[in-house]
Amino acid sequence: MENLRILILAAGKSTRMKSKYAKVLHRAGGRALIEHSLSAARNLSTDISVVVGHSADQVKAMVSEVTFVDQKEQLGTGHAVLAAREHFAGYTGDVLIMPGDVPLISAATLKAFVDFHRHGGFRASVLTAEIADPTGYGRIVRRNDNEIDSIVEHRDASPDALRIHEINSSIYVFNAPALFESLAKIKNENAQREYYLPDVIGILVGLKSKIGAFKVSSAEEIMGINTRQELAAVDRVMRRRKCESLMAEGVTIMDPETTYIDEAVRIGADTVIYPSVQIYGSTMIGEESTIHSFCRISNSKIGGRTVVLEGCIIVDTSVGEDVSVGPYAHLRMGTVVGDTAKVGNFVEIKKSTLGAGTKSMHLAYLGDATIGKNVNVGAGVITCNYDGVNKHPTVIEDGAFVGTDSQLIAPVKIGKDAYVAAGSSITEDVPADSLAIARGRQVNKDGWVKERKKKK
Ligand code: UD1
Ligand code: CA
Repeated sequence: MENLRILILAAGKSTRMKSKYAKVLHRAGGRALIEHSLSAARNLSTDISVVVGHSADQVKAMVSEVTFVDQKEQLGTGHAVLAAREHFAGYTGDVLIMPGDVPLISAATLKAFVDFHRHGGFRASVLTAEIADPTGYGRIVRRNDNEIDSIVEHRDASPDALRIHEINSSIYVFNAPALFESLAKIKNENAQREYYLPDVIGILVGLKSKIGAFKVSSAEEIMGINTRQELAAVDRVMRRRKCESLMAEGVTIMDPETTYIDEAVRIGADTVIYPSVQIYGSTMIGEESTIHSFCRISNSKIGGRTVVLEGCIIVDTSVGEDVSVGPYAHLRMGTVVGDTAKVGNFVEIKKSTLGAGTKSMHLAYLGDATIGKNVNVGAGVITCNYDGVNKHPTVIEDGAFVGTDSQLIAPVKIGKDAYVAAGSSITEDVPADSLAIARGRQVNKDGWVKERKKKK
């Protein structure tokens, strides 16, 4: 939007969160609170400043393409805006102020709010909402339907004001010079001994300035986070929204209440998600796949028509189409599983590639391995990839058969179509088309038990 600068307040500690980290670093819907505020703000302007103080270095490391303003001591929201005064020197346009702890606000509402402010010819406007339980919020004291008199904080409110259900969202648009002139006059004579930004509204009213109050229809959007309980409540809203949008796109989610899917996740139509599944980060799942209960899938790609059975953990992994994984498989660190492969119970795969049609059905550890197509990895096979100092690679070529309970002591290579006999400890490469047996020979001692019994 033309002639609009945005200021986000993110310096506060999180006293009520009982945390040593700044509140805006806490996460809901898979992202830090500050990231949610910023992504809405970026739809309106590229001129964004962020006031930082508590855990400033961590906040600065997390966001980019903004101007940082340091608020050394956190003496209140009004004090935070004052810290940015120099950044606005000479600027006569509008400034949209928003807190870093109201992450559900949408860009569409912010735009409608700025339009309202501009069309009404106001000096300042406040975004408000009517909510059932206004505890903790600043209350909007109205003069009439269009004008407001002041904003009183919950802790400073009279019994009459406490009965007001219209609350301050802490999102405002100000004419910049009017804002900074009034800010110079606010005092900290209140219950919290803080410099309150909402006091500017009362001062402007005193100067006969026209103040607008724009009430949002969906109060959910302005839910603020001051406590861990509120953090969980907002996270629940974000999850519900994500599940609803996926269901609208044709994904079956059996129990949205227990399904946790991050905003950036993409899932194809006719995929079915069972209860108690967590899908995080940039995960992409194709069409007609099934994810059964108790799986956690993070930053991974799962192809179409693939079935992930119960209890799998899949992180930074790419799984092809028509694959079956689990139950209880653990795939991680750049693992690639080819189309139609099968990875079964209690199989851990790390930094390895499995070619199309390859099977590892039971109890295996495959690490730093490059495994070709149509390989059969028997139950209990282990790649011994670590010698205590370095990691070593294992190569298993197309069509090879690795017998049950074998150890492949890396670096080692099993050639194309080769066989490894069950129970082998393979320390040398196995040539293509050959059979390797690497175990002690069995000895049967006839009558040994009877002999022993006689001796007793
Ligand atoms: C604030 C409003 C209240 C409103 C509510 C909506 C004030 C005094 N009150 O209360 O009317 O209903 O938001 O959610 O503004 N911050 C700083 N520096 C500071 C203090 C705060 O940057 O010195 C930042 C915080 O990091 C936070 C935001 O300002 O992002 C709001 O501060 P917070 O203490 O949470 O205000 P509330 O008590 O929620
Ligand atoms: Ca707050």
